This record gives sequence, structure tokens and C-alpha cells, in this order.
Amino acid sequence: MPLSESYQPEEIEERDEEIAAYMDALQPIVDGWEPNNVFLYGNTGVGKTAVTEYLLSMLQEDVKAYGDVDLSVLSINCKTLNSSYQVAVEMVNTLRPTGAEISSTGYPQQTVFKKLYDELEALSGTVVIVLDEIDSIGDQDELLYELPRAQANGYLEDTSLGVIGISNDFKFRDKLDPRVQDTLCERELQFPPYDAPELTNILSSRADIAINEGAYEQGVLNLCAALAARDSGSARQALDLLRLAGEIAENAETTRIQEQHVEQARTKLEQERVEEGMRELTVHGRLALLAVIAKAAADETPCRNRELYEEYQRLCEQAGTDPLVQRSVHNHLSDLRMFGILSAKENRSGSRGNYYSYELNVPFESAVEAMSDVLHLDTEITQIKKRATHNEVR
Ligand SMILES: Nc1ncnc2c1ncn2[C@@H]1O[C@H](COP(=O)(O)OP(=O)(O)OP(=O)(O)O)[C@@H](O)[C@H]1O
Ligand SMILES: [Mg+2]
Repeated sequence: MPLSESYQPEEIEERDEEIAAYMDALQPIVDGWEPNNVFLYGNTGVGKTAVTEYLLSMLQEDVKAYGDVDLSVLSINCKTLNSSYQVAVEMVNTLRPTGAEISSTGYPQQTVFKKLYDELEALSGTVVIVLDEIDSIGDQDELLYELPRAQANGYLEDTSLGVIGISNDFKFRDKLDPRVQDTLCERELQFPPYDAPELTNILSSRADIAINEGAYEQGVLNLCAALAARDSGSARQALDLLRLAGEIAENAETTRIQEQHVEQARTKLEQERVEEGMRELTVHGRLALLAVIAKAAADETPCRNRELYEEYQRLCEQAGTDPLVQRSVHNHLSDLRMFGILSAKENRSGSRGNYYSYELNVPFESAVEAMSDVLHLDTEITQIKKRATHNEVR
């Protein structure tokens, strides 16, 4: 289904420059030289995985056509693999035939690495390893140090190895050991967020194959693109909006997707995002969020850290909970920002240094509804809602 997450597009739109830089980084493979290690980063939904898959399958076809380079590609999504150990086991098991897999626990790490080198060496030729969502590996990142050096350290003779690391976590790369950065990030590529016209093109090339002509109003694609561009610049978000709008239109038994269906889809997706973020929150994370909501209801956002902290303390008292120190509450606010529930501005205030001010990044109503489901502060929340109605905050 061409609108679903797993669909791999035949054509990549709007990424010509990035593709050119990427191909340049991969060129040594075509020439039969030692591959570069590549680190690709960019926000979620900007085409990192799609472009990588597209380019590598093209490369494999090219190489097959010319027949002079022996290329193998090993793609691993690290999302559920939280250490070097787990990633190495996954690689070994992907390379081994069914029935010969190793267990995912119980070996010393170096033993697993050794098994991995044996499998890689058996492939011989050029091997490209894609480690997608590589930040999941966390602090246990020894593999990222070892893999790019496998040849230099004499573990591989007949195989020359290139690693492509992909991440949407900009902090991850900076946290890496400088030695890892030097090798793994030999070539760095960055994909910027898409703007609205780019998203419109991506959507219309997908709509061409997914939706009957005439089954959507003209403005629908533009609206999905504009909403996603304003929020995240993510093609995934734009596609999700269009898919969900289609489902809503279908359930309403209308013949065409209309802008109102996109608006409904947007509210639903936002609510889901808030609720998902909420599930991850501790009680104090929720109270910190409620503090922002209360300020928003009073039409007092963006609001400074310090004032939010005062509001938070008041809410803790209502909830009968001891408040955390300001620093910890600030960490909760940063997490909320990471989940996309809040947005923050850094303000410079001369001699007193910098401070942050926060506001909701999701509709007020979605946030307050999600909160009233998870916090037992009915009276307080009723009052917040009243204040919001009074101030016409929505
Ligand atoms: N330039 C593009 N042309 C066509 N489709 C695209 C393009 N960029 C992204 N898409 C589509 O948008 C969706 C999200 O893209 P992709 O999965 O590549 O994002 P990502 O950068 O890997 O995000 P994440 O960091 O969350 O993994 C996919 O369905 C993909 O096919
Ligand atoms: Mg991806």
C-alpha cells in the first residue's frame, strides 16, 4: 500500500543534492576501492532510510551489471537493539543460515565480535553494513569503535568493510568517542527537513499511485504538506496525515478527501502523539506539563522556567506530592520538548545569562484531555479548562 510506512518508493523526490553527495561518498565502492564510512543524520522522516535503501539497491544493480565488484549489503535496524552486543548478535544471525543462529545471551562480547568477523570474512569482497537508528545502541558503543578498524586490526583480510551509520539524534554523534567520530564519521551527510513545496511534490507523486484521480480535493495535498512543514518537515508526518484523512473520508462515506478530513486527521495524530509522550512521563513530568498547560490557559505562554516552576510547586501541593528541585523539573521540560509536546525558546538576558521559555507545541485541547486521563486532579483541571474558555485559548 503506497501510503503505508513500509512502502519503499520507486522514485525519490526533492533529494537530488543529497543523493549526489551520498553517491560521491559511495563512489569508491563502484571503483572497487576501500569504501568510506558514512554517517548520515537528519530529523525524523526526512528520507534517510528511504534514500539509503534506494541508493544501495541501485548500487547493487550497477555492480551486478558490470560484474567486476563483489558487493554485499547488510542492513540492520538497531531500534530494538540496545547495545553493541545485541547488534553484533543480530548481524551474525542475519548472515548465518536458518538453524545456525547463535543465542542472544551468554557469550563474552569479544566472542560475538569474533563470530561476526568470521561471517564477514567469509563473504569476502566489499561489504557495506548499514546501521540504521544507530543511536539505540546507547553508551555501549564498542562495536562502532571496532568495526571500522577490523581490517587494520587484522580481523579481515579478504573483505573490505564500509559502515553507514544513520541517526536522527544529533546529540548521539557528539557524544561518541572522538576516535569513533574520526573513523565512523569519515563522510558526514545531513538531510535537512522538507519545506512545504517539497512535501507537496512527495505527496503528489505518492498520491498518483495510491489514490484515484478526483478522489481528493485540490487543497488537500497542500494542506497536509503545509501542516507537516510547519511542524517537523517530515515526509512521514505528511504521508500519515494524508493516509488518515483518507481513512476518515472513507468512514464518513464521502467520495472525496476534503480539507476538513485533514484537519480531523491532524487533531487525531496530535492527540496520539501527546498520549504516547504522556505514557512515557513520570508523575513529575506530567505535573510539569500541567504547569505549562495551566499557564497556557491563563494566556501566559511562552513562560519562563522559573515561573513554570512556581506553578509546578503549586500543582504538587494540590496533588499531595513533594516537589522536585528546579533543575530536575527543567530536565522534565526538556524531555517534553524532545517528545514534541513543548517548544522552547532560548532568551538571552544580558548579565543574567540565558533562560528558556516554554509553550505548548500541540493544541491546548489535546494536551488537557490527555492530562485529565492520567492525572487525578479533577478540580484543578476543571478550573484550568474554565480559565481557557474564558481566555479563548483552544
Ligand atoms: N524524498 C522522498 N521522496 C519520496 N518519499 C519519501 C522521501 N523522503 C521520505 N519519503 C517517505 O517518507 C517516509 C519517511 O521517510 P524515511 O523512513 O526515509 O525517514 P527517516 O529519515 O529514515 O526517518 P527516521 O529518522 O524516523 O527513521 C517513508 O515512507 C519514505 O518512503
Ligand atoms: Mg529511518
